[in-house]
Amino acid sequence: MQTVIVALAAYFIGSTPFAVIVSRAMGLEDPRKYGSGNPGATNVLRSGSKKAAILTLIGDALKGTAAVLLARALAEPLGLTENDAAVAGIFAFLGHVFSVFLRFQGGKGVATAAGVLLAMSPLAGGLTLATWLLVALTTRYSSAAALAAALAAPVFTHLLVSSVSWTAATIAMSAVLIWRHKDNISRLIAGKESRIGAKKKENV
Ligand code: G3P
Repeated sequence: MQTVIVALAAYFIGSTPFAVIVSRAMGLEDPRKYGSGNPGATNVLRSGSKKAAILTLIGDALKGTAAVLLARALAEPLGLTENDAAVAGIFAFLGHVFSVFLRFQGGKGVATAAGVLLAMSPLAGGLTLATWLLVALTTRYSSAAALAAALAAPVFTHLLVSSVSWTAATIAMSAVLIWRHKDNISRLIAGKESRIGAKKKENV
């Protein structure tokens, strides 16, 4: 029963759509209406506001971190285990992707997954982040960086975190994340993907 409550609470935390909230608060256009149409930091950057993109990135990452840390903080009073923390992580991620506040049409989960992985293990999460950075800096494709990080994350988790539930959670997050990037994959193959920071309005 506790695990179900943890999953539900994490799902609601993860559902908070920072891209939409930040854009609205700053008087910017709804990110679902331009660029890739994705309510995420990369697409918010296409609005031209770095500040909005950074706030979105921080908010979306922190909700993943918060869900895991909250489950750990409540371990003693509620009798939760590290498995429940992994459940909190995956459900926060799923909340972002299938947000109840966006009619289940949420984002692609990159920032939230990063927040979850950093809370899971700063080392494994940090190495995953480093993978993202390396590919982002060399290709300037946010999506390619996310796909490379999604492939690397289960390996780092398996090697550095001795937990079957965390490895399973990471594999599940990576699988959903890759599936959510199917349009990006097609654009990358066709050479039509926009690079980080490019202002683009025609993809939706
Ligand atoms: O974090 C999402 C990124 O990997 C792709 O975003 O807007 O280019 O589809 P976008």
